[in-house]
Amino acid sequence: MTTNLQLAVGGQRVTGDPVRTQNVLACAAISNVIKSSLGPIGLDKMLVDDIGDVTVTNDGATILKLLEVEHPAAKVLVDLAQLQDEEVGDGTTTVVLIAAELLRNADELVKCKIHPTSVISGYRLACKEACKYIQEYLTLNVDELGKDCVVNAVKTALSSKVIGGDESDFFSNLVVEAAMAVRFPKADDKTQFVYPIKNIRILKAMGKSTKESLIVHGYALNCMIAHQFIHNLKLTISICLAMPKSIKNAKIACLDFSLQKVKMKLGVQVLISDPEKLEAVRQKENDIIKERIQKIVAAGANVILTTGSIDEQCSKYMIEAGIMGVRRVKKQDLKRIAKATGATLLMSLSNMEGDETFETTMLGEAEEVYVERISDDECILIKGTKNQNAASLILRGPNEYFLDEMERSIHDSLCVVKRVMESKKVVPGGGAVEAALSIYLESFATTISSREQLAIAEFAKSLLVIPKTLATNAAKDATDLVAKLRAYHNSSQTKKEHIHLKWVGLDLSEGAIRDSVKAGVLEPSMSKIKSLKFATEAAITILRIDDLIKMEPQKEDRKYGGCMDEE
Ligand SMILES: Nc1ncnc2c1ncn2[C@@H]1O[C@H](COP(=O)(O)OP(=O)(O)OP(=O)(O)O)[C@@H](O)[C@H]1O
Ligand SMILES: [Mg+2]
Repeated sequence: MTTNLQLAVGGQRVTGDPVRTQNVLACAAISNVIKSSLGPIGLDKMLVDDIGDVTVTNDGATILKLLEVEHPAAKVLVDLAQLQDEEVGDGTTTVVLIAAELLRNADELVKCKIHPTSVISGYRLACKEACKYIQEYLTLNVDELGKDCVVNAVKTALSSKVIGGDESDFFSNLVVEAAMAVRFPKADDKTQFVYPIKNIRILKAMGKSTKESLIVHGYALNCMIAHQFIHNLKLTISICLAMPKSIKNAKIACLDFSLQKVKMKLGVQVLISDPEKLEAVRQKENDIIKERIQKIVAAGANVILTTGSIDEQCSKYMIEAGIMGVRRVKKQDLKRIAKATGATLLMSLSNMEGDETFETTMLGEAEEVYVERISDDECILIKGTKNQNAASLILRGPNEYFLDEMERSIHDSLCVVKRVMESKKVVPGGGAVEAALSIYLESFATTISSREQLAIAEFAKSLLVIPKTLATNAAKDATDLVAKLRAYHNSSQTKKEHIHLKWVGLDLSEGAIRDSVKAGVLEPSMSKIKSLKFATEAAITILRIDDLIKMEPQKEDRKYGGCMDEE
């Protein structure tokens, strides 16, 4: 079967079983790396990149991003896991573990002379059936479970993270509050809400304890107006005092250019024959920017936010007009502010005719813009924005690594709130869904009389990797616990009077079995369904490969570096 031929194009070709086995091994290697980070008692990874930056994390997506995987098949797996992170926000580790296990079992089947096409179609069927089963029998409606349900789902997502211990109560409430603060009703159905979690800004401030993190209603910018005018000490003091620190009924202009004296572009020469005209040219340079500011002010603006700088001359004009100017706002922030307040982000004031104009419709509105001291820094807060609300979370923590990991965990949990609240559906966690599906698919397999039966049975077996890994990571007897779990689910599916046992999952701290719904271990159903789909997709993509053609890397140019090489 194996052929290793040298292609005429200067590449290498591997075909047949070895390439599949090679790919499966590469994926297994990836899954082995992140295996121990799954679950509430999972461990963290420390990654150091080529310039020495350290990241300590438990988040599957971050680990995969930093691993810089080179193997082409393993890359497919990493890409699909990243997709899970983008689309759902949580469950990346699960995708990789299931996909690697599916591949391992498929490889065994192929070695037993089952054609990969049969395995693939079996996996497809099993995945479809599994998703249907989750939707029909294993989902719970959030409204039935009460309002604690969302907080519990967040707690489950946080349980494996740095802030998942004693602080999980505090943070889950904080995250839910932030998500509630930014929600707005859908245009077509006013009873349904949209949760634009991108409107929640996360700021990190080193120092104090994690529980001193706080939520601020409004868009917090860590720019300071007092800092704007530091040029010389005397000037700073006089200007800072004159600058308004709070503006009610703010009309905001969002600019993506600097407000400073106009200088001629490099290479432009102005030749003046009459020395008396020199002063007039200088004056005109000053006037251009003055006119710009006057136009903005005349349109009714009382706050100017810019991504560029504001020089002293301009700030003087602003102070005279009694308006607030903030410089060096990050472009991404300004885009979001523009969206939330209804402003237009302007690259320049020029219009189609070549004149400079500024219209009132370009202004955004907010109830209030003011400077507030939050923890050790001064922030500018924009409250009561016209189109969409915004909230900011200010995280406190002992060091940089901790704060970065906190931010990632908060991001995961915000995604969970969004998914739970928008779809209103949750499933039990702690391996309950996987165990239920494995029992169901095993019996489903026996109803299929073709070769796919074997593949479906393997799919069922592969899902057990999740409860097994959860138990192993918690230092419990995995074989024993998973057997018990399966026994419960089997009886829930075969005996009518035991149907309530379908919510049974693992209790990892006690090493026992418990009702996951009662214990409040819940996950968004979308996260489970998507992770199954992505894992199957990844496994199928890799299984389909039976030929690997690799070009030889181009020979290095030895002209310059050659002197270092040995002859
Ligand atoms: N308290 C708990 N008891 C039992 N199982 C739990 C508990 N909390 C979470 N789990 C389980 O842990 C798993 C999630 O672990 P984890 O968050 O580490 O991985 P992930 O969500 O797949 O990946 P990531 O969060 O890195 O994107 C889920 O299967 C979930 O059911
Ligand atoms: Mg998670």
